[in-house]
Amino acid sequence: MSSETQLSLFDDDSTFNQRELIPTDAKIAIAPGTYSTITELAQHCDRCHRCPLGDTRTHAVVGRGNLKAPIMVIGEAPGQNEDETGLPFVGRSGQLLEKILASVNLTTEHDVYIANINKCRPPDNRVPTPTEVAACLPYLLEQIRLVDPKIILLTGATAVKGITGDKRGITKIRGQWLEWEGRLCMPIFHPSYLLRNPSKERGAPKWLMWQDIQAVRAKLDEFQNNN
Ligand code: URA
Repeated sequence: MSSETQLSLFDDDSTFNQRELIPTDAKIAIAPGTYSTITELAQHCDRCHRCPLGDTRTHAVVGRGNLKAPIMVIGEAPGQNEDETGLPFVGRSGQLLEKILASVNLTTEHDVYIANINKCRPPDNRVPTPTEVAACLPYLLEQIRLVDPKIILLTGATAVKGITGDKRGITKIRGQWLEWEGRLCMPIFHPSYLLRNPSKERGAPKWLMWQDIQAVRAKLDEFQNNN
């Protein structure tokens, strides 16, 4: 018997079996504390078939950025570029997101970790269904627990609804701080919405985003100055 097999005799069978089953059945809960690292979680996402999106993905898209970032950005779901690369927000809306962050000196190297409500690309970039969101959400909750951000930016209505359950439209709630599970969340426009609405006039979506990201910067500074 190899030493690895011998060592596996020490495994707690119930945990071991449950972990093996997690990726293939959305009925199996993923309890808080299931994963000790994002790498472990990503290994499950790579094999996951908790919803039918697992059948059509090229890559599961888990996250990118600083794993200890004070700010987490949550998007909707991967698009084509993300499905191809396995990284979130790398297409046009991702480039705009990086510019928005950079405008207040925030980078994915230091300050920001980026993830999505769904890890797999929905066909034709449609909005993920409630069943798909529910199947994938436990992974995101684990990511939030592990990264432990002070501030969460929810980009667009799908992210707001997925995390807080709030079904209001994004134009109604953007820019307002919400408290969720002891964390401060700011709903903001999705960058793809800004790509479709390029005006920077006062009151236009891009102008509002500029107000919101400055409020986020100020809140982070406040946290950092108090610690
Ligand atoms: N849109 C998203 O919501 N997430 C991505 O990763 C890319 C585009």
